[in-house]
Amino acid sequence: MPNLDNILKEIDYAINVIFESKYSNKEDNQLDDRDKTKSQMVMRVNHMGEVCAQALYRGQALTTKDTSITKIIKNMCIEEKNHLNMLSERLSELSGRTSRLNSLWYLSSFMLGAYVGTLDKNKSYGFIYETETQVEDHLDEYSLKLPATDVKSKKILEQIKIDETKHKNTAKDQGSIELSKSTKNLMSVTSKIIKKISYYI
Ligand SMILES: [Fe+2]
Ligand SMILES: [Fe+2]
Repeated sequence: MPNLDNILKEIDYAINVIFESKYSNKEDNQLDDRDKTKSQMVMRVNHMGEVCAQALYRGQALTTKDTSITKIIKNMCIEEKNHLNMLSERLSELSGRTSRLNSLWYLSSFMLGAYVGTLDKNKSYGFIYETETQVEDHLDEYSLKLPATDVKSKKILEQIKIDETKHKNTAKDQGSIELSKSTKNLMSVTSKIIKKISYYI
């Protein structure tokens, strides 16, 4: 059972992820208004995805009893935080905003992660493997949604994908087992709903 100190630390961490924004002093003037609006929406979804990644992995790291898992997850979390910062900065350049529901997404993802942390090691890694696989597909899909003029955002997504593939392979190397078809579908359907909402809100 996590102690109070660790829980308070997690609350502090969550507030930082949800509310801290990286501001950029250079505004992107290359895109016309229509393209900019489209990019804002696409990049808001990607930003929300990284908020969820933080929450999932922090939750998992909090409840797992296996310190080797904690170490690996916390390393991944550092890279996911870097993604979050890159997307936050890009949103600022595009004069966009983050999802108004990030607190809700964080809380629900954290609870899911905390549950996964209680599963056995291979299942826990299986969840990471599946999450990162779905994130890879998502990045390809949302890269195509970006307007052709927004080369910079596209490059950011490509850069992020390299890390996500690495995370997926780390989970496999650690002995991940394949999740059931119904679990995979549930994960995919849930993330699709959250993405649809975050695109607008
Ligand atoms: Fe990420
Ligand atoms: Fe990742």
